[in-house]
Amino acid sequence: MDQLRIAKFTSNDLPFGKMMTDLEGWHRTVTDWNRLLRIEPLGMIKAQLDGRDVGIAGFLSYKDVSWIHSVIVLPEFRGKGIGRAMVEKCIANARENGCPCIKLDSVRGFEGFYRSLGFAEEFESHRYLADGAPFPKVAEEVRPSDMGSIMAFDRAAVGVDRGRVLRAIFEDKTDLAFCTREAAVITGYILGREGEERVQIGPCVAKGGDYSIGHQLITTLIGSVGPERRFRMCVPGANRTAVRLVRDLGFASGIASTRMYLGERFQESAAVLSMISPEKG
Ligand SMILES: CC(C)(COP(=O)(O)OP(=O)(O)OC[C@H]1O[C@@H](n2cnc3c(N)ncnc32)[C@H](O)[C@@H]1OP(=O)(O)O)[C@@H](O)C(=O)NCCC(=O)NCCS
Repeated sequence: MDQLRIAKFTSNDLPFGKMMTDLEGWHRTVTDWNRLLRIEPLGMIKAQLDGRDVGIAGFLSYKDVSWIHSVIVLPEFRGKGIGRAMVEKCIANARENGCPCIKLDSVRGFEGFYRSLGFAEEFESHRYLADGAPFPKVAEEVRPSDMGSIMAFDRAAVGVDRGRVLRAIFEDKTDLAFCTREAAVITGYILGREGEERVQIGPCVAKGGDYSIGHQLITTLIGSVGPERRFRMCVPGANRTAVRLVRDLGFASGIASTRMYLGERFQESAAVLSMISPEKG
């Protein structure tokens, strides 16, 4: 085989990264790309064949669980072991950091690729789509001073520290953040951001996975945006309450992917009604 090199992906590589995610129709905006590098500056890698950029892959670590994402090889260079080499590098990076579990959302049809790297299937990861609706605002707006409590709530509910990611999403879109409280204590929160074509909803986390809290959060976010916009939300299929809730709210099922894991299985919390995104868990 020609000379394959796995190299660091820097901010200079963003146009290449964006071209690759556009090629796959993954709706990743320039803001999303910048945020990804800001959150995990050493998380992206690229593959070069004889000096030419031919592939990308990334990982995001929360210590007890890491996520592999953005694994793409240019179509004309597929089937040469490049995807495998990049994922093996991401696995090695996660293991060097002592991470016991690595997860990912596999695009349908590529489960075999990840199985050959040792991953096992866990459950279906749904993309749900909805049109806007004039729902009333029943949850509170999140203020910057609430973020400390929200990050602590998320850590307790989810079991890992996702604080830096939540803060980055909130800072990019402060007016799409809502929470619920009981006796002044946070019982749930939701964040949204501008995606390509649709507003991306997530994360949405509710104490005990409570249906009614989730309902308040999702309807408030949709109602605050305006009926002319459309929405996308990534829902773990293993969470039956979350699936029932979005269906009750009129969301339609979009393309599903498959959640897979490697290592000790990290049990995802029932409190998570919507994941942040396929690349951030
Ligand atoms: C998935 C992808 C990155 C694989 O890259 P690649 O360089 O073609 O993969 P490799 O050549 O390293 O293949 C590694 C192994 O997986 C197998 N494999 C590759 N694609 C497969 C598929 N769709 N189903 C089953 N096995 C597959 C190969 O046969 C190979 O097995 P071997 O090592 O026993 O020979 C590439 O097909 C791609 O860019 N797809 C589009 C983007 C995408 O959907 N990525 C997945 C995101 S979750």
